[in-house]
Parts: sequence; structure tokens; C-alpha cells
Amino acid sequence: MENSSKYLPHEGAKCSRCREKASICLPAHRACFCQECFVHYFENAVERGIKKMKLDRQKPLMVAVSGGKDSLATWQALHELGLNTKGLYINLQIDEFSPKSREAVQKFAQEQGLDWSESVLKTELGYTIPELHQKRQKKFCSLCGRIKRQLINRVAARENFQTVATGHNLDDEASRLLGNLIDDRQDFVKKQYPFLPSPHPSIPAKFKPLYRLEKKEILYYCELKNIQYLNQKCPFSKGATSKYFNQTLEFLEDKMPGTKRNFLYSYLKKEKKLVYEEPFNTCRECGEPSYMDICGICRLKNSLSRDDIKKL
Ligand code: AMP
Ligand code: FES
Ligand code: ZN
Repeated sequence: MENSSKYLPHEGAKCSRCREKASICLPAHRACFCQECFVHYFENAVERGIKKMKLDRQKPLMVAVSGGKDSLATWQALHELGLNTKGLYINLQIDEFSPKSREAVQKFAQEQGLDWSESVLKTELGYTIPELHQKRQKKFCSLCGRIKRQLINRVAARENFQTVATGHNLDDEASRLLGNLIDDRQDFVKKQYPFLPSPHPSIPAKFKPLYRLEKKEILYYCELKNIQYLNQKCPFSKGATSKYFNQTLEFLEDKMPGTKRNFLYSYLKKEKKLVYEEPFNTCRECGEPSYMDICGICRLKNSLSRDDIKKL
């Protein structure tokens, strides 16, 4: 496993669940597991998240899949737990990256016999990610993130899904929480909850099934389930500051196992589920729901045609 001798079991370590030979130790849980019990532990953590967030298991779920480890592990675990799922892949049309991520999604779906949809950025927006990047480089990841979120909402609504699952994991959530608290972005802190109810009939609820699982656990689950994910970072993701918050928490986790988990869970205990206060309008250009009188996608399209994307 990735640079984690700490996760390798010591000589003679036994599985905390079945007492067979352990293959992984999780210091944050003071537990070791054999392969089979680790899979049980992993899927049980997803199941606990489903129960805690009171997700309706009977409703079909759309799973936003990028082809990376987190979203494919999310899809696999939800499928194993018997939920009715369909994948959604947003094709950002990034050379050398998107074709490989698309292939990972396609292969996974085919092997598991699962259905998926594809949304192509140029068709939806009129521009590919590299074309947008030529126009604006500053804070590009956050612009791309907003575009992906809007497209995920639209496709899910078009296909009548009321809930979308994403692959955000415990490490992502804990480092984002740290960043939001340091910058005192209270609005963002509220929107970080692992389940966000639907604020409008054509905007799906959001669920993060892996919020209780760490990156290293996800890597091991992928290995055991033989999930062939794309292990490559998006070429435009350089410069994202989230990695510093992540490294800070990793440092603390190394000295005090369980810190990341305690930090995130103590916030979740305190924070109530988000209740939307802002009323929704309808975009006067495309008719989609929007906080303002023109939605984010139309504002983006307009600014691209005027060439003042830098302001967005
Ligand atoms: P990121 O913002 O890249 O960290 O991704 C967070 C989550 O958004 C992933 O775990 C996926 O669930 C979803 N996601 C990211 N990229 C895509 C994509 N190209 N298509 C569909 N879903 C995506
Ligand atoms: Fe959006 Fe890379 S995935 S910029
Ligand atoms: Zn066991």
C-alpha cells in the first residue's frame, strides 16, 4: 500500500473480527482486519453513513464517477450494498486524461453490468476544459468544480434522479473543513454536510457515501476488489491549496491516530442538516433553477462570449 508502513500489520497480528491473520491495521480504530473482514468493515462504514444520513435506500441513486479511486469505490460499495445505481461521467475533454478516465468508467460499468450516462462539456457548454483554461487560469479548479456541479445537477434532474452520490472521502472533507474554518467561510462549512437535501424539485440531494473512510482505506478496498481506476491527476489541478491542509492533518494523524476522524465527526455532531433559506428563482435565459435571475452556466456562457471570463 501507498507509503504506509503504519498500515501494515505487525508480525503475528490477528484480525479483530475473526482472529485470522490480519492483512491491514487501522491505528485510528485500534483494529486490524483480514481481507474479508476489511471489506466488511468498509462496506459497513458506507452502510452506517446511509443510516446516519437517513438516505432512502429504495430510491435510485446517480453516482458521479470520474474514473478515479474514490468515485469507483463509491459505486462499487453502493452496488454491493444493494442500492439501485446509475453512473454519470462528465467528459471534460482534456487530452490524454479524459479518454483514460472515460475508459476506466466504461470498463468498470461493463464488468459490473451497471448502466451509466455521459455528459460532454462541449455539447453542454460549448467549450472544453482546455478551451476554458486558455481563457482563465486563476482559481481554475474552483471554476471547473462549479461547472461539474451544475452539469451533475442538470443531468440528474433530466434523468429523474432525486439524489446524487459523489466520491468525497474523509481526507477531502476534513481538509476542506480545516480550510473553511481557517478562512471563516461559514456558508461553505454548512454546505459541507455529507447529505445535503434537495433545495428545489430540479436539483437533486447530494450524498457523500465515503465520508467515513480514509484515502488509504479506499486504496486498499480498490486493491481487494480489483477496481481498475485511473491513477492520474488532472493536468490542470496544479496549485490547488487543499493539499496543504491535507498534509497538515496527515502530520497530526501520524502523531495522534484518529485526529482527522475526530475533527470531522465533532463538526458533524454539532452541525444540523442544512436548511435552505435563500428562495430559488428561475434563470431567465435557460429556465433552470438559479439563486440569481441568471444561472451560473448562462453567466459563464455570456462572459465567454464577451471574453470577460476573468471576472467570474
Ligand atoms: P473532485 O472535485 O475532482 O475532487 O471530485 C469530487 C467528486 O466529484 C468525485 O469523487 C466524483 O464523484 C465527482 N466527479 C469529479 N469529476 C467528475 C467527472 N468528470 N464526472 C463525474 N463526476 C465527477
Ligand atoms: Fe477540473 Fe481538472 S478536473 S480542472
Ligand atoms: Zn477477519
